[in-house]
Amino acid sequence: MLPQYNSTMKIMLLGSGGREHALAWKIAQSAKVEKLFIAPGNAGTSAVGENVAISVCDFDAIAEFVLENGVSMVVVGPEDPLVKGIYDYFKGDERLSHVAVIGPSRDAAQLEGSKSFAKDFMQRHNIPTAAYKAFDGTQIEEAYKFLEGLNAPYVLKADGLCAGKGVLILPTLEEAKEQLKEMFDGMFGDSSATVVIEEFLDGIECSVFVLTDGKDYVLLPEAKDYKRIGEGNTGLNTGGMGSISPVPFADEQWMKKVDERIVRPTVEGLAADGLLYKGFIFFGLINVCGEPMVIEYNVRMGDPETESVMLRLKSDIVELFQKVDAGTLAGTKAEFDERTAVCVMLVSGGYPEAYGKGYEMTGFEKVEDSILFHAGTALKDGKVVTAGGRVLAVCSYGNNRAEALEKSFRSANAVEFEKKYFRSDIGFDL
Ligand code: AMP
Ligand code: GLY
Repeated sequence: MLPQYNSTMKIMLLGSGGREHALAWKIAQSAKVEKLFIAPGNAGTSAVGENVAISVCDFDAIAEFVLENGVSMVVVGPEDPLVKGIYDYFKGDERLSHVAVIGPSRDAAQLEGSKSFAKDFMQRHNIPTAAYKAFDGTQIEEAYKFLEGLNAPYVLKADGLCAGKGVLILPTLEEAKEQLKEMFDGMFGDSSATVVIEEFLDGIECSVFVLTDGKDYVLLPEAKDYKRIGEGNTGLNTGGMGSISPVPFADEQWMKKVDERIVRPTVEGLAADGLLYKGFIFFGLINVCGEPMVIEYNVRMGDPETESVMLRLKSDIVELFQKVDAGTLAGTKAEFDERTAVCVMLVSGGYPEAYGKGYEMTGFEKVEDSILFHAGTALKDGKVVTAGGRVLAVCSYGNNRAEALEKSFRSANAVEFEKKYFRSDIGFDL
């Protein structure tokens, strides 16, 4: 029997970043929610729901909380619990199997958990992506040969999860060989025991998101994120310094190509391969001379893209989740806000290298035209203090990009804490 969703429900959201505050903010707006718990959450999520001190990979504690509190839906923010199999954990226990879990099964989560799995999947289903080959440490000579046949720069990807740090792009063959050896020697622990070497693609990136019930899908607003710490996209990679939605080059014609060549074949490929998937799919795309290609899959929403995407999603997200769980998404279309949404991330000086924590944050009351999503904050003696490298996502609407950015920069200047830093060039390349 399909679940009936006539009454309100209790929802538990897993995660603690800006992405989760944005998701919690959106979920809390739904009339279908009786109560929202966030585990473990942050200072921001406690304003839209109740934080619960349970970590995202403690499945036993999550299950116990769900049973004791009558939670009927678990929405998974980050990839870790998905790759570790939280979906299967719930579905394999008869006391829990009625609970909707928004996220893919463990097997399907390999789309993010293993780069070689993802590349093989794309090849099998004719989905456009960079040419590649996967190698392990016993094949180093073959791997060198493969590198010699490619043009610079060289792209090396640790096969397993590396918290976004497992991709190296090297300008010379010598450096590529050197780094490859280090990867095999444990640069990323077990995650780089296998390395995918691939062709470098030159273009501008765009993140596309869908929610799927395993058969059908709804497209969510697309976004572009800014990963480097420095202006003009220079310096070290970060967890994301800002985002913008919509993306100008992702027009109707381009999105039609994305849909026909990438999104539909992916959802159909998952079904054909028997990979159970009820959740978000994040397509990390690159626009190569007008043609979309896949750089990577993630099995969750992006951060800081979610902070812009949730501003633009007008549909009731809980209603979409219910359809995902029931397998009734067919014919559903999500409604988007026509305005531009931007996110400017405030970070702690020194990030993504060493940085301090515990700085008191002030000036929130001076923010008028922005929505603030907390990323790395905590409450201490009734005060909000920094508790991470990426601290606060400052998000705004505008009738165009310039207007939205102007609001976010004004708000970014109003919030204060020691060693605050943000990029003031978000959107410069669009
Ligand atoms: P990933 O973790 O796979 O998203 O890779 C991290 C970043 O490396 C991407 O967002 C791209 O900016 C870059 N990248 C990855 N693969 C390629 C490629 N084949 N060509 C060019 N850039 C790439
Ligand atoms: N913004 C990229 C990611 O979430 O992986």
